[in-house]
Amino acid sequence: MSAVISEHDARTQHWRDDFPLLSRQVHGKPLVYFDSAATAQRPRQVLQAMDDFYRQHNANVHRGVHSLSGEATDLFEAARRKLCQHINASSEREVIFTRGSTEAINLVAQAYLRPLLQAGDEILISHMEHHSNIVPWQMLREQTGAVLKVIPVTDSGELDLQALPELISERTRMLGLVHVSNALGTINPVREVCALARRHGITTIIDGAQAMPHLAVDVQALGCDFYTMSGHKMYGPTGIGALYGREALLEAMPPWQGGGEMIRTVTFEETTWNDLPAKFEAGTPNIAGAIGLGAAVDYIAKIGLDAIAAHEQDLLQFATDKMREIDGLRIIGEARDKASVVSFVIDGVHPHDLGTIVDHHGFAIRTGHHCTMPLIKRFGLPATARASLALYNTRHEIESFIPALRQACDMLR
Ligand SMILES: Cc1ncc(COP(=O)(O)O)c(C=O)c1O
Repeated sequence: MSAVISEHDARTQHWRDDFPLLSRQVHGKPLVYFDSAATAQRPRQVLQAMDDFYRQHNANVHRGVHSLSGEATDLFEAARRKLCQHINASSEREVIFTRGSTEAINLVAQAYLRPLLQAGDEILISHMEHHSNIVPWQMLREQTGAVLKVIPVTDSGELDLQALPELISERTRMLGLVHVSNALGTINPVREVCALARRHGITTIIDGAQAMPHLAVDVQALGCDFYTMSGHKMYGPTGIGALYGREALLEAMPPWQGGGEMIRTVTFEETTWNDLPAKFEAGTPNIAGAIGLGAAVDYIAKIGLDAIAAHEQDLLQFATDKMREIDGLRIIGEARDKASVVSFVIDGVHPHDLGTIVDHHGFAIRTGHHCTMPLIKRFGLPATARASLALYNTRHEIESFIPALRQACDMLR
């Protein structure tokens, strides 16, 4: 490890120290966690917030007059407030807690779009969507006779913007686009696409699962109608995420699921709905999860997304340069604007075998289709290997990855 590299890593070492899991070993080797796009590790601040909740404040929210219930409600709503400020939503009524991005997209498909769709209406998505931004629309297509259209992706892994205008028609009702591709790292020009959609009166939903840990997201500046978030990708817990929706749209929508919390009054004859955001939060929510997510937002905000992005861009460039030196290695996804995800294939080496071998050296990478089967097929591949980098990764880890990769290649070729 050179002096320059040590200096670079030293600047971020204290971030890394926040993540207890990173000090463990795998197969007797120090763990190198390169799978944050699948799920990130949690800092002690998030673990602490959830632990405190269960030890000190656990009660159901919005229901009790007793003190604990009030405390739980305050903590839960404070988490919503943090998320609201973090994405610059104009009101907390626009932030609905969900299980994650998948549930948020399904909510929009069923509660927003389904009642508006006629057979022959069109839904536009891109070729680089995660399955969670494909399958809910296909299900809707089966239910309504709508048509699903797909914006192509270029060989470098960018959205083919030239093809977009022709795909828009008078019947386009929804445009769904991933902000940052989990499989390629591509950062899509969301603001531009949303502006185009708005000019045509098309509603937009942006899948922000992978953007939230890397980019400062301002939903008003992006100009989207809906935006989805996943707690576990942004150093928060699993099973919690959120949907941002413009208030006017959420107000006009019917509820999605029925049950407690989402009602104002119930008789056997008739039920009336609660106000936003409760209208879309039937049942007891993931209270500790939301509080953990609030702590994750605080954590990201404290470090600052600018500092995180600068560090990750440095790692991305460093990893890309080093990995390109490996004979027969090809990076899949070379967009000009990229987050810290490196998908790659190596001639004569199956990604799964590669992943298994490097795991024995302590490296956790992902191999497969990354829940983007149509995209991986578009590149004529069965699978890729993916190293996804986060704020706690270091140049040193990348440097040590290269000999592990070379050794795997020697064994497998
Ligand atoms: C781009 C993208 N969208 C959506 C999802 C699904 O998110 P969640 O697990 O929160 O439902 C993922 C998770 O891998 C993702 O990477």
